[in-house]
Amino acid sequence: MKLILLGAPGAGKGTQSARISEKYNIPAIATGDILRAAIKEGTELGKSAKSYIDAGKLVPDEVVIGIIREKLASDSCRNGFILDGFPRSIPQAEALDQMGVAMDAVLSLEVPDEKIIERMSGRRVCHCGASYHVVYLPPMQTGICDKCGNKLYIRDDDAEETVRKRLETYHAQTEPLKAYYAKKGILITVEGQEEVADTTRAVFSALASVE
Ligand code: AP5
Repeated sequence: MKLILLGAPGAGKGTQSARISEKYNIPAIATGDILRAAIKEGTELGKSAKSYIDAGKLVPDEVVIGIIREKLASDSCRNGFILDGFPRSIPQAEALDQMGVAMDAVLSLEVPDEKIIERMSGRRVCHCGASYHVVYLPPMQTGICDKCGNKLYIRDDDAEETVRKRLETYHAQTEPLKAYYAKKGILITVEGQEEVADTTRAVFSALASVE
């Protein structure tokens, strides 16, 4: 299974990609996680990405295309993979085509903007990659990661003003990808549900038609 997860910031891509990855036993490649790890490590990549991320803008195409090219060449992607957060612009999608990667499906998670703002204000994340919501997906112990026991934190780019900017960026630069992939006949849309488990059920049922 070679799958792209599309969706607005906070639509639930990371949450669902963890579940799909487990079910299909394929790695999830999340460009946002890779960039945040680079920022934390203070690498050149991290330093250049930080200003774009904090402003709710996209990191330049050539930077993320380079990251993906390297990841897809690794052995772990031989039996399939999930791209979470890539491509995010038409030039990125064209670059993926040029790499000769034939995707099986592009799954777009649809969630209205007002709902996104509410979700982001309650999101808590861990450096291990786990993500929670104070109401919809709370950890067993408040503020502590179920998986590794570390303290949870709020992402800098989850401030409401930045989320609004990220939504603008999504509608202007990423949403046109729906038409791009619909034209190729591989777009599937799933409505995000109130409960994480209900969205997972809808996602698995949509993917059953691709297997
Ligand atoms: P990235 O980390 O990819 O952020 P994003 O796409 O904005 O998506 P998020 O991680 O914020 O949300 P998500 O859809 O994964 O939602 P989640 O599952 O956490 O990118 C960050 C930045 O990096 C970008 O702004 C950009 O600057 C840069 N970048 C990354 N990729 C790039 C690229 N390709 N090109 C250029 N720049 C790039 O869910 C959100 C919350 O809702 C959680 O709290 C969750 O628990 C909760 N939730 C999930 N599902 C449900 C549900 N069904 N019901 C209720 N709550 C739910």
